[in-house]
Amino acid sequence: MNTEALGGIMITEKEIIARAEEIGRQISEDYKDEPILLLGILRGAVMWMTELMKHLTGDVEIDFMACSSYGASTKTSGEVKINKDLESDISGKNVIIVEDIVDSGITLQYLKGYLENRGPKSVRICALLDKPEGRRVDIEADYVGFTVGNQFIVGYGLDYAQKYRQLPYIAYIDESKI
Ligand code: IMP
Ligand code: MG
Repeated sequence: MNTEALGGIMITEKEIIARAEEIGRQISEDYKDEPILLLGILRGAVMWMTELMKHLTGDVEIDFMACSSYGASTKTSGEVKINKDLESDISGKNVIIVEDIVDSGITLQYLKGYLENRGPKSVRICALLDKPEGRRVDIEADYVGFTVGNQFIVGYGLDYAQKYRQLPYIAYIDESKI
């Protein structure tokens, strides 16, 4: 792993764990005795989801989806391709999409619509990071770990060309040093 390109720790593991606990407590209060289906978006959300779910006190099921967006840099409403669909029947369920980062918002806007068509009781979004400057469609996460600026970020599940996901902290990357 080329650590030269890493621009220092932006959010520490300790801070992320503390925030997961706060958000987990908040979700547990919001849903009370209602069961939840946590839907992790592969692959970036994996670390955040495992940390978050430790703090949920109600009945929790988990499932995963994988998707990728095409031509997102040139289109105003990008198309999203589903590479792995979820396996659960979500009709009548409270779904919480767990995502690594909301950038343009295109992925989440598409996913939310896709899931809402399957008759769930509710769909909310929980993202580790929010990059509001990148937004190109009108969507907000209901639960956000941390708000970040317009830098490219890696670690805690987030990658640059599939690398750096294993870092236990969030760092920004200096693309000129890669
Ligand atoms: P959106 O559809 O533009 O909101 O894209 C969200 C996806 O882009 C995330 O799930 C990430 O996989 C990826 N992404 C956006 N910004 C970053 C970043 O700073 N680092 C790593 N991945 C990112
Ligand atoms: Mg992703």
